[in-house]
This record gives sequence, C-alpha cells and structure tokens, in this order.
Amino acid sequence: MFRKLTLTAATALALTTGQAIAESETHIEDFDFSFEGPFGSYDQMQLQRGLQIYTENCSSCHGLEYVAFRTLHDEGGPALPEDQMRAYAEFYEIYDPAIDDYRLATPADKFPAVTAAGAPDLSLMAKSRAGFHGPLGSGLNQLFKGMGGAEYIASILTGYEETPECAPEDFDGYYNVAFAAGGFPEECIDDHGHHMVPGSWIGMPQPLWGDDVEFADGHSTDIHHEAQDIAAFLMWTAEPKMMDRKHAGLAGVILLIMLSVLLYLTNKRLWAPHKHKD
Ligand code: HEC
Repeated sequence: MFRKLTLTAATALALTTGQAIAESETHIEDFDFSFEGPFGSYDQMQLQRGLQIYTENCSSCHGLEYVAFRTLHDEGGPALPEDQMRAYAEFYEIYDPAIDDYRLATPADKFPAVTAAGAPDLSLMAKSRAGFHGPLGSGLNQLFKGMGGAEYIASILTGYEETPECAPEDFDGYYNVAFAAGGFPEECIDDHGHHMVPGSWIGMPQPLWGDDVEFADGHSTDIHHEAQDIAAFLMWTAEPKMMDRKHAGLAGVILLIMLSVLLYLTNKRLWAPHKHKD
C-alpha cells in the first residue's frame, strides 16, 4: 500500500515537473487588425487576399470543413460577388454520398476536409488558439491589447527561425518561436529544467516566405502582410458574425446608459417634494 502511494506521489511529481519543463516562453507579436476594438470591422479586401493565400498556400494540407462556400458572398465577410463565389466553389470537387461519387461543389457545400498531411482543420483555429494570451492564459493580453487567435496565427507563420545550436541536427520538426505545443529536444533544456530557447518544434514546414502570391489589388506580399491577411481571413472563418456581435453589444451599452439617465432623473423627480421639507 505504502509503496503504491509513494509510487503515485513519484508519478505525480514526475508529471508536474514534466509540465514545468514543457512550459516554454513564446513570442506572440501584437499585430494591428482592423477588427479590433468596439468599432472594428473586417476589411473586405484583406479577407479576399486571405482567401487567396489559403487557396494557394494552405489548402493542400489544411481543410476548412465548417465553412460554406456561399458565406464568401456575405456582407461583412469577403463579400465576393455572387458569380465569383459560384465560380470559386466549382474549383473544388467534393464527395457526395447521395450519388456515391465526386461532383463539383456548389455554394451550399462546405470546403472539403483535408486530412492527408495530418494538419488540423483551420475553420475554428483562430478561436481555439485564442487562449494563449496573457500570463498563464489569463486573457489579460486580449483585454488590454486586443490580442487573440489572429495574432497567434500570424505569429506562428512569421515565427520560423534557424534551428538553435543546442538542438541535434536530426531533431524532428521545424523550429518556431511562437509555437508552444510541439516537441522539444532534451539538449535544449538546462540543468534546472528550463528551456534554453523560446518556442518549440512544429510539424509544419514554413508555409509563407513573402512573395508567395500575387494580389490583384497590388497589396504588399511582405511575409508580415501575408501572415496578417491569412490570419484575418481565419479570424473571419472562426467568427463570421463578430461584427453583428459587436454592434449588438454597443447597442446594448447605449441602451443601458439611456436607462440609467432616465432612472436618475425619475428618482430625482420622485424625491424632489420631500427633499427640502425640514
Ligand atoms: C505541407 C503541409 C502544410 C501546409 C502547406 C500548411 N500547413 Fe499548417 N500545419 C501543417 C501540419 C502538419 C500542422 C500540425 C503541426 C504540429 O502540430 O506540429 C499544421 C499546423 C498549423 C496550425 C496550428 C498550430 C497550432 O497551434 O497547433 C496553423 C495555425 C496552421 N498550420 C496554419 C497554416 C496556414 C495559415 C497555412 C498557409 C499559409 C498552412 N498552415 C500551410 C501542415 C501544413
């Protein structure tokens, strides 16, 4: 019994210290996005550029299986003209169980899932990775700096750096200073269990290098701009109704302020006759 207990304690200790080792510092850059702040909104042209980057640089490995083609036509989203949206959908062939065969996609279909490369689906990535921010994931950075999943994605895409010297040459993966969840070579952990370099090793080869695409609007293809464009697009896929939510929130706040003023005035009026009685 006692042995069992000590064993459990030892495992628990190993687990907690394991966790301490696994914790690493990452560099998340604070990019400026048009949709930040209470009045922010998506930049249509930026979302269209992001769609282009997704199509040309990410769709070979990553799916967007929760995003329907017709939403590319939505106001407040990329707002592709309807004929362009239809033509875009027809780029894709999807499997239709009703006919047990592949057919051209229609606006009602969703982007196909892509699993071959073992890469995660990107539809909701910007929301699922919003929790990194602030000390211990407290969300403080999001509150004060408006940092969230879009910053994280843009930081991952620009976070590739040369493999540090401490890592053995054959270590699996690509070194990225913004990525925390990946593998980490023992050689880069010091005697106190601390990581000697920030970030960790990611399984995705660097997908953007700058000048990866040619934009119809002539926008800059500097890697930082490209990373921001695709990150903004993925923020939209994860939260297509962000603008509606902000507007509803703002209307709510204005209504509450008006109610408070009315309440204050009514209160004054009600008590006015009693105020100077004595
Ligand atoms: C060659 C295939 C490939 C391409 C191309 C690719 N990725 Fe990835 N991506 C992966 C793999 C594999 C992973 C999983 C990596 C891991 O967990 O170590 C991944 C993971 C990710 C993640 C998640 C990181 C996390 O926190 O788990 C994001 C975000 C991402 N990719 C974005 C992109 C974007 C944006 C593009 C296009 C600019 C892109 N990827 C192009 C293979 C690819």
